[in-house]
Amino acid sequence: MNVGVLVSGSGTNLQALIDRGQRGELGPANLVVVGCNVPDCPALARAKLAAVPSFVVDHRDYPERPPFDRALVAALRAHQVDLVVLAGFNRLLGKDLLDAFPGRVVNIHPALLPAFPGVRAQRQAFDAGVKIAGCTVHFVDHGVDTGPIIAQAAVRVQDDDDDEALRLRILAEEHRLLPAVVRAIAERRVVLEGRRVRVLGATPATDPLRSL
Ligand code: GRF
Repeated sequence: MNVGVLVSGSGTNLQALIDRGQRGELGPANLVVVGCNVPDCPALARAKLAAVPSFVVDHRDYPERPPFDRALVAALRAHQVDLVVLAGFNRLLGKDLLDAFPGRVVNIHPALLPAFPGVRAQRQAFDAGVKIAGCTVHFVDHGVDTGPIIAQAAVRVQDDDDDEALRLRILAEEHRLLPAVVRAIAERRVVLEGRRVRVLGATPATDPLRSL
């Protein structure tokens, strides 16, 4: 299964996928291309270092969303991408992209959805005073972080945490969860039934309470 990863920022989740792939731990998932909407973002440098092909579709060149989406679709299709992974991609995707990859776009979000969707999710959780936080990998639909949940990982919020400490603890779980889900999808173990997703033969890495 050919995987295209879309990024906008530091790319640590991308790095986790690259590292797992290089160690042969992504099963039949093949990281074939990295796409970015921000020229010169650190994630692109990670792709180049790992010799993964990359492309840039700068959203500032597309005042309207549909042509931006279509440019992404064309670039992803040029690399025969089957599965699109949003790993810190900071643009909302529209109908053109979602229709081009039906049920084949996933996103990693740094909160236990449906709580704290949208931006600065870790900060939202911290400010809300929750005792358990975490991350979610979900299918992308037309809403903001509303698609069917595939897997979650939880972390405890410590009394002496600041929001940065919490962000980093969640991020470490993201780096485990996202590759595990990508592998499970590539192994055809992820089954979507309406709003519910079953992960067949779930490994400890996809157990939501594994880290508690
Ligand atoms: C992660 O926290 C991810 O959950 C969110 O954006 C961040 C990206 O971090 N969607 P990185 O670029 O993978 O380091």
